[in-house]
Amino acid sequence: MGGREASRIVRGMRASEIRQLIKMKPVELDATRRRLSACHDITDLRAAGRRRTPRPVFDYVDGGADEELSLRANTRAFRRWRFQPRTLVDVSEPDTSAAFVGSVAPLPLALAPTGYTRMMHPGGEIAAARAAQRHGLPYTLSTMATTTIEAVAESAQPDLWFQLYLLRDAGLNKELVDRAAAAKYRVLVVTVDCFVTGHRTRDRRNGLVIPPELTAATLASIAGKPGYWVRMLRSPAIDFANFAGHEAVTIEGTGALFNPAITWDDIADLRARWPGRLVIKGPLSPADCLRALAVGADGVQLSNHGGRQLDRAVPPVSTIAAVREAVGPDVSVLVDSGIRHGSDIAVALALGADACAIGRAYLYGLMAGGELGVDRALDILAAQFKRTMQLLGVRSVAELREGGPELVVAG
Ligand code: FNR
Repeated sequence: MGGREASRIVRGMRASEIRQLIKMKPVELDATRRRLSACHDITDLRAAGRRRTPRPVFDYVDGGADEELSLRANTRAFRRWRFQPRTLVDVSEPDTSAAFVGSVAPLPLALAPTGYTRMMHPGGEIAAARAAQRHGLPYTLSTMATTTIEAVAESAQPDLWFQLYLLRDAGLNKELVDRAAAAKYRVLVVTVDCFVTGHRTRDRRNGLVIPPELTAATLASIAGKPGYWVRMLRSPAIDFANFAGHEAVTIEGTGALFNPAITWDDIADLRARWPGRLVIKGPLSPADCLRALAVGADGVQLSNHGGRQLDRAVPPVSTIAAVREAVGPDVSVLVDSGIRHGSDIAVALALGADACAIGRAYLYGLMAGGELGVDRALDILAAQFKRTMQLLGVRSVAELREGGPELVVAG
């Protein structure tokens, strides 16, 4: 039958007859849900987020330091591993739950701290924390958050972690830690790779300023992404919510807040002050992980800050095995930087990590569709991780950990 004849027949059919032949998918009327349901992986969410966000903001999330060598190496280092699955194992009910930092979550996953989150979407930190809660995952609030420690704790009740940058103002450090303890945050995450800010080349080129200033470039981006600006203008101004009174600064200028003279002794002082669990975020060598334990940390988060600090820093995934060997089986080892797929989480666990953390993967979702977008990112990663476990022939995270060396091979 020719194409012309086929189209004549179809035109002659009634809608009810066509409906019998093809099962019609109900039309999604909500634009955000429609946009998100067309995103099938984190790459799709990144593209959707990019379409809705002015370039300087998207680049702030997406970019890395200097030549972005670590940024690119992070994802590549995960992808060089290949699976060697077990077959004919009953994987009808895989248990994806995992214990880390003194708690059990339905997935070996946490949301990493990200600054200025309301700049990506007005829902900001609360949207991300609520999505984390819905998925039973920890959410880490950044020192550089645009929502206060207390407001997040009042609006969402996930397993709450607070991330501390050690600032020049020692009084402020103590105040932040005490406020996090009073607001019942369970874990303190101290970041140790950011005592001077990395050189974010894209931000420099874009002249990124927070809150945005009215420049010719801002006007051009308003014309290009009016929806973003309408959302922003309807919501409260963006500021460093946790230390009120600071003026607009360039992203570059925030570096002046950090204290480059901090040493391990300062971490020991913090340990004495903080009543909960303590995680050190940013060590990359077995020796530094051992130092973290020596000053009283309960766990480490291997990280190169998503390639945003020291360019050419090793991809954290490639340090997992040596760190695990050094710290032994009982210390919580988390890894972040470069996780874009549930199978990345499986690789990290097979190499010896207890859990992973994500930054950009949920921020792409936030830019693509606010709280629903973060939900979508977490749904995607959860489904990918579960499917990877099933196809690998492992029934639990413990089996994935134990079978590690047999299940992943360098490709
Ligand atoms: C970050 N990161 C970060 N880390 C931190 O300790 N405090 C912070 O305020 C921020 N802010 C921040 C903003 C943005 C936009 C990004 C993308 C990242 C680093 C973050 O916690 C985490 O280490 C990385 O994001 C992990 O890498 P991926 O998942 O983004 O590849």
